[in-house]
Amino acid sequence: MAFKLGGSYSQPPITLPLTKLYLRQVHPVCNVGFRLTSSSLCWPYLLVDSYSVFWSLLQTNTPPCSLIMAEIWADQPFKIIPTMVMRDVKVNPTVYHIANEMVLAHNAMIRSLNAMYLQAPYLKSEADSGDLLLYAKFWIEWIHHHHECEEEILFPGFERESGVEGMMAANVVQHHEFAPGFDIWVKYVKDCLDAKSEERFEADKFRQLIDGFAPKLTLHLADEIPTLLSLDKYDEKKMHTVYMEFENVIKNADFKKDELYPLVVGSHDKGFKGGEKFPPVPQFVIYLVAYWLSRKYRSVWRFNPCDFFGKRRPLFFGPTLEGQ
Ligand SMILES: [Fe+2]
Repeated sequence: MAFKLGGSYSQPPITLPLTKLYLRQVHPVCNVGFRLTSSSLCWPYLLVDSYSVFWSLLQTNTPPCSLIMAEIWADQPFKIIPTMVMRDVKVNPTVYHIANEMVLAHNAMIRSLNAMYLQAPYLKSEADSGDLLLYAKFWIEWIHHHHECEEEILFPGFERESGVEGMMAANVVQHHEFAPGFDIWVKYVKDCLDAKSEERFEADKFRQLIDGFAPKLTLHLADEIPTLLSLDKYDEKKMHTVYMEFENVIKNADFKKDELYPLVVGSHDKGFKGGEKFPPVPQFVIYLVAYWLSRKYRSVWRFNPCDFFGKRRPLFFGPTLEGQ
């Protein structure tokens, strides 16, 4: 018995023995790249590139998924934030929604940060470190973009509509508290990616610099939630309008979709209680990300802690039971 794997546009499908079905579980590119739904399998033709096929051919002796799973996952070392359903909160539906969406966005940021931190020591080649640095670059842009939109639209909007000037000031202060350490790491990532710079990727330094800002950043990400819950005191419709404006700007801002979307959707765990309906986009967008937008930087998305459908997966690089 056999099944066909499609090649790239220029390559014909390749027939592989059915015994390689497990590859879908252990290889993140395959994990997002194709689905084995029938014996004829024509549509994966567009979805599996020659790299996937080459990789799969090399893995004929790979043990089952359970034996090579990394032991730790991206919910540590920096802590994931509880959603509304995990807290005892009594607020109006709008504030509940705003706070919950913010938790889920922040958690996605924390998971991808953890994924970088945990996988950095286990890279095997310069190509791997190049991919991690690109992943870090895209993550940095995400963080900048999120905080800029908060400081320019969301926080001023809440203060304006509530009539309470300075209500969000503590959160802005926290933005600036993690900035010095963050900027040092940002410069390091940038220099490592710059061929003209003498800076080279070193996992220890990469992680030490993350240690220089991540505790303050993640504290800020968690502390923002009680502030949002305090909006319950104000006009619900006005708060809703402000949040919708923020969400529209976030979605339509001038960013490269193939750099941000695969990172965001690949860092969200739909199995996390309260996160079933996130991100707030139609399902076809998820398919677009999985099968189109992720193509350009496919090897970079190996660092994502989840597949593009929100399913958590073993970290690609990491300690293995097999290696012990
Ligand atoms: Fe936020």
